[in-house]
This record gives sequence, structure tokens and C-alpha cells, in this order.
Amino acid sequence: MIAVTTSPRGRVLEVGAMGTPLAINGERLLSSVHALAELGAYVDERTGLVGVNRLALTDADRAGRERVKGWFEAAGLEVRVDRVGNVYGRRAGAEALAPVIAGSHIDSVPTGGRYDGALGVLAALEVVRTLNDRGVTTRRPLEIAFFTDEEGARFGTDMLGSAVACGRIPLADAYALTDETGVTVRDELARIGFLGEHDERVSPPRAYVELHIEQGPVLADAGLELGVVTGVQAISWLELTLVGKFAHAGTTPMTLRRDAGLVAARVNVRLHEMATSGRYGAQMRATMGRVKPVPNRVNIVPGRVICTVDLRNPEDDAMAAAEAELTAFLEELSKQSGVSIAVKQTAKTARVRFDAGVQSIIAGHARAAGLSHAPIQSGAGHDAQEFAAICPTGMIFVPGEFDGISHNPRERSTPESCIHGANILLRTLLELADAA
Ligand code: GLV
Ligand code: MN
Ligand code: MN
Repeated sequence: MIAVTTSPRGRVLEVGAMGTPLAINGERLLSSVHALAELGAYVDERTGLVGVNRLALTDADRAGRERVKGWFEAAGLEVRVDRVGNVYGRRAGAEALAPVIAGSHIDSVPTGGRYDGALGVLAALEVVRTLNDRGVTTRRPLEIAFFTDEEGARFGTDMLGSAVACGRIPLADAYALTDETGVTVRDELARIGFLGEHDERVSPPRAYVELHIEQGPVLADAGLELGVVTGVQAISWLELTLVGKFAHAGTTPMTLRRDAGLVAARVNVRLHEMATSGRYGAQMRATMGRVKPVPNRVNIVPGRVICTVDLRNPEDDAMAAAEAELTAFLEELSKQSGVSIAVKQTAKTARVRFDAGVQSIIAGHARAAGLSHAPIQSGAGHDAQEFAAICPTGMIFVPGEFDGISHNPRERSTPESCIHGANILLRTLLELADAA
């Protein structure tokens, strides 16, 4: 049994006979990251790079889930699957108190890399393996978890599993979501064997912590080794259905057309102009990620288009103003073009601020380890944003390479960065799990 030295505040300072801080096994962490990346691996035709395609609730996701669940079990965790397919592994504490949870996701976008989400889940697993190796018993239980369909790339809304667990999305609404082919979340959960029986609402833990790759250029540009995440910016997703008129491409005069494809293009141009104008601040982002023209043939004016809008802004007021401009633009465009525009909001979350206490614990451990670090706001959405509604929550970012590219097979964080991040996760979790 390893001695755990605590400060008067109960803070875990050092573990181990020589007084060295407890550290994870970096090789084991990285080999788990690479082993999980084999599932759903694909070769990008253009670059030859190997990426990850583990869209939520597909066979590849099932394979990933089974592998990670097996690792949870092998680490001696008490595993439970809830009714929305979230998987938790519990390591008992010395006292029957609320646990500390560390988690993230293992689903990916179709053009994903191996770090987004997976690093956080596997680093949390590595924390458990390390505590097991060293015989450390924490005061509070520790739970590690992966949440269903964080990406939203298949069923159209993001943070699905954690949003259900933390109460933002009702279970029935989650079950009823469909993918492009019309299959529901509930049916897919049942098909892949992850329609669990445990209550989907999680009891508020003492704290929630998530390690994640930054997915942007900020830390690397600043030469920083770690980011202490202050929160997540506001997110607004829309699905637009544009209905005009199918027509012959050769014979229909330009003046007689109601071209839904042209309207989609004009919306996209306006989004770009809004985001680059500075009207909504320098951090405004706007993307039309999905465009589906019907019938999608060379010689037919598209009579119908389904397309999506993804808006991000660090300030709620600026987001509201951008949404209002877009609404007014769509109304005007519809009148001018004779193309009807139906708007469905598919995801909407306000700016989230993480707990100051958790941020200061993370920063303290980064400082103690001599790692350069700074506060950073997340550009991407994360499961942590849902937990922030029910408990003190924080996130640790590690820098990415190649301008921080993500949702791309090139996504990468160095082995050193992954190990630094996992060590700070370990020490943060130990401190929180020892807290009153
Ligand atoms: C999740 O990857 C997001 O879209 O922010
Ligand atoms: Mn992610
Ligand atoms: Mn992602």
C-alpha cells in the first residue's frame, strides 16, 4: 500500500515512498489510444493518412465500445450501461460519498482522428490502472465514463448522451432522433447491444473532469504545454429545408427558376460574411457542413435542398444578434427567390463557464509539474459542458499539431502532450477524490 500524503486541506500532495508525484504509465496510455484507433480505421484516399470513422451506434462504434468496456472490466471496475448507452465504470472509494467522474466520448465524426474524445476516456482509464498498480485508495469513488454520440454527426444533435444524463435532453427525445436513413437512436442502441437498463439521469457527482485535445491552434501558437479550460462557447445548429421547383437545366430561363441550390449557396456566402465581418466579434464561427440537393443530378435545377448551419460564439449576446441577422436574411431571401425556407433548431447551448475551483486545482498541478499553461476557452463542444450544469466541472486541454487540425485524420497530439495531460488529470482527480 502506497502512502498518500495530504495537506491540512486534504489535498493530495505526493504519493510514493520517495515523495515523487504519482505518474501514469505513458506507454500503456498510448498503446490503448492506438489500439482503439484500429476500430473504425480508414485510409483517406487523397492523403493516404489513416483516420477514424466511428460514427455513433454503428458497427464500428459497437466494436470500440466493446473494447473499452472490456478494458473497464479488466481494470476491476463495476461497469454499468444506462438507457441512452452511456457506459460508466466505478472504482470504489474508502467512503460512500458522491464520486468524482472523468469521461469523454469514443464516437467520432466520419473523418476523425484518434485523439478527439478517445484521449479523455483512455487517460481516465489509465488513471484507474495506475491507482490499481500502486494500491491507492481514494476517499471518494472514482467513475470513468464514455457518453453516447457526443459528435452529433449521425443523429444531428451534439452531446446527446451526456445531455440526457445531465437533464438537458429528455430520454424520449433522444430515442426518437433518426439518422439520414430514418433509423432511430433507440433501435440502434438495441441493435448494437448498448440499450442499458440503468437510470439515464446521473446523480450529481462531487466533480467532473475531462481531458481533451484542444482541436485548434491556440496552445501550440503560444508555445504552451497545457490549457486550463475556462468554459465552452455558445453553439447553435440549424437544419434548413429549402423548397423551390425542379426544372430542366437547358430549357428553363434563368428568370423562371426557383433554384433551392442557389439559395443554399447564398446562405453559405452570407454565413461567411457574417463570421468574417467582425460584427459578432473576432471569434464568431459559421459553417454550412451538410448540403443535400435533390435530385442531385447535372441537368436538373435542384427543387429541394437540406442543409445545416453551425454557429459558434463565445458571447451569448453576440450569438443572439447573429441568429437574428440570419433569420431576417432567410426571410428576405425566401421572398426574393420564391424558395420556401423551413428552419429547425437541432442543437442550442449557451456559453458555459467552468468551476473556478476546479480550474485552480488543474492550474496548481500544472504549475507544480513545471508545465507552461494558460486559461483557454473551448471552441468545440464537450460532454463537460453538460456536467457543468450539475456539478463543479473542469477540462484540461493538450495542444494539437499542424495548426491544431481536428475532425481530420491528420489530428495529432504528441506523446509527451498526451502523457502530460493524463498526469495532470490523475493529480486533479486524486485531489478532488480526496476532498470533503
Ligand atoms: C464537437 O466535436 C463539436 O462539434 O464541437
Ligand atoms: Mn470531442
Ligand atoms: Mn469532435
